Amino acid sequence: MNKNIQRDHQTTNKIFDNRSLEKDYVTLIPILKDGLRVLDIGCGTGAISKDIAQRVGPSGSVVGIDNTEKFIASGKESYQTSLNLKLFHHDLFSYNPEEQFDLIVSARTLQWLNNPKEALLKLKTLLKPGGQLSILDYNHEQLSWEPQPPESTLFFYQTFLKWRADAGMNNQIADDLADYFAETGFQAIEVFNVEEVYRKQDENFCSGLESGQKLLVQHKWWKKGISQMS
Ligand SMILES: C[S@@+](CC[C@H](N)C(=O)[O-])C[C@H]1O[C@@H](n2cnc3c(N)ncnc32)[C@H](O)[C@@H]1O
Repeated sequence: MNKNIQRDHQTTNKIFDNRSLEKDYVTLIPILKDGLRVLDIGCGTGAISKDIAQRVGPSGSVVGIDNTEKFIASGKESYQTSLNLKLFHHDLFSYNPEEQFDLIVSARTLQWLNNPKEALLKLKTLLKPGGQLSILDYNHEQLSWEPQPPESTLFFYQTFLKWRADAGMNNQIADDLADYFAETGFQAIEVFNVEEVYRKQDENFCSGLESGQKLLVQHKWWKKGISQMS
């Protein structure tokens, strides 16, 4: 069953607004070409979608969908000058557009689903024959800290992982995605390993984690660029 997480915290918009293609989805750049019709699933406020729209140029376009209404409302306001970007409040599983897409991308979204293989099957129906799918997700069990935070922070993180697992989310989805892709009939699967590093002095660092301490968090993720089975 598809679940829905409420994301109403005010800081979330800001975190998503600060994201960019160059900084937060760099492995996608080589496959972006003029004229591509792109669908971004779980686009948040559309910050990365807006950068993709710029790369595919006026002959291409990007549709971003997200099932959190306030993210879409915020993105529509912030990126209204991106004429080849359209943002819609929609859930992936009930999204049935008339057209299919050359490229579907989804960053940091399948990791929040309890049915990622169902999502891949749904995405296949939205791709043109020979189209490409790129997924960026984390392995939450590969996170490392430097220096080690206090026991209470580690306990909190373990509780977070347990909450995710109990809700049916895969904490190591990045490492399992290639298998999911193969099992759902995709071909030419490629895996890219990229480390994501947050430093205390960075603007996007969550200051609530630990004050007065330099903290470095590494998330590892795998991005899959694949060609759909024709
Ligand atoms: C961690 S955010 C990633 C946002 C953006 N892609 C980025 O990398 O900055 C995950 C997003 O997926 C959206 N989402 C989760 N489940 C969804 C679903 N079933 N359909 C559409 N969007 C969904 C959430 O609302 C959230 O905005």
